[in-house]
Amino acid sequence: MLRTSEGAKERPLPERAERRDASDEERVAAVDVRRLTKTYGRGARTLTAVKPMTMTIPPGHVLGLLGPNGAGKTTTIKMIAGLIAPSSGTVRVKGFDVARQRSLAVRQIGAVLEGSRNVYWPLSAWQNLLYFGRLKGLRGPEIKPRARQLLTELGLWERRHERVGSFSRGMQQKVAVAAALIADPPVVLLDEPTLGLDVEAARTVKGWVARLARHEGKAIVLTTHQLEVAQELADRIAVIREGDIIADLPTAELLSRYAEDRFQVLTAGPPDGLTPVVPDGARVEAAGDATLVTLADADSAALYAFLGRLEGLGAHLLSVRQVQPALEEVFIRLLHDGSAKLESAGS
Ligand SMILES: Nc1ncnc2c1ncn2[C@@H]1O[C@H](COP(=O)(O)OP(=O)(O)OP(=O)(O)O)[C@@H](O)[C@H]1O
Ligand SMILES: [Mg+2]
Repeated sequence: MLRTSEGAKERPLPERAERRDASDEERVAAVDVRRLTKTYGRGARTLTAVKPMTMTIPPGHVLGLLGPNGAGKTTTIKMIAGLIAPSSGTVRVKGFDVARQRSLAVRQIGAVLEGSRNVYWPLSAWQNLLYFGRLKGLRGPEIKPRARQLLTELGLWERRHERVGSFSRGMQQKVAVAAALIADPPVVLLDEPTLGLDVEAARTVKGWVARLARHEGKAIVLTTHQLEVAQELADRIAVIREGDIIADLPTAELLSRYAEDRFQVLTAGPPDGLTPVVPDGARVEAAGDATLVTLADADSAALYAFLGRLEGLGAHLLSVRQVQPALEEVFIRLLHDGSAKLESAGS
């Protein structure tokens, strides 16, 4: 929870404000994670929730951290936010070490955490935003216009003086998102930010994420099970499975790695008659007066062989195109491919 991120457990050592490479701020990764691990429990009950994880997120980038339930996403986010101590490894946020320069590091972060109360229920939405703004070192006159804008855009302005505890789950989530953004932090951690939001609010939040990254240079880590949200927003996708990062690639590159072997062929006329020439595993659908054949797992030799057989039948070819799979499909294939480990050629 955000409220535990400040104050408690301060270290006795004075924090030094200097940053590594502070002279060249642009070169400081917004988030720098090095060999980060987390193990829960002891002995026979040991569970390694996060295996050695190394990644950097530059300013202006949205990282989609995806993985099935229990994969280690929330554990990772909480370690970056300084809410749980890593078993080993380091996290730097805008150059500040989260373990050694805790309050300076945490001040760079706004977070919406999954499954925890991110905001104070007895307080109103308005009071929550003032509280979280002050916690991050802002003063009333700086906070109020921003609080007004956030609450207005989320459709909560009229109800700003009501207790958050009396809000619906989606309304509470909206306040949590607003609280994470109130201090305009350079690093935003969003663990399932659109969970429970209505269509319009989800769109507003997605719009903010895109704007914060593209126009305001914020670094954003986003977890979601709504893969179309990740596909839309994330510049890069890291897939985590049982605590292990099994893919870390720019979104377009991840999708294109799976696009190479997938084609759609459109022919004139109904599907009848094509069956003998369609390879195993291909999908055949009627598309108006035409027929669409999708070849999965087909290289170009398989494509040409199929086109040759179509020609032999005298079929009239309308179009052939390579298909980009949806992220959801890539994700499922990655998770089920035991040996998969995809890394960018450049990384
Ligand atoms: N406090 C804890 N004590 C013991 N084990 C924990 C604790 N918190 C998390 N775990 C375990 O760590 C693993 C990773 O959990 P985590 O919450 O990070 O998963 P997640 O990827 O966020 O999953 P979800 O998609 O369900 O939110 C799980 O096996 C979970 O049971
Ligand atoms: Mg989680």
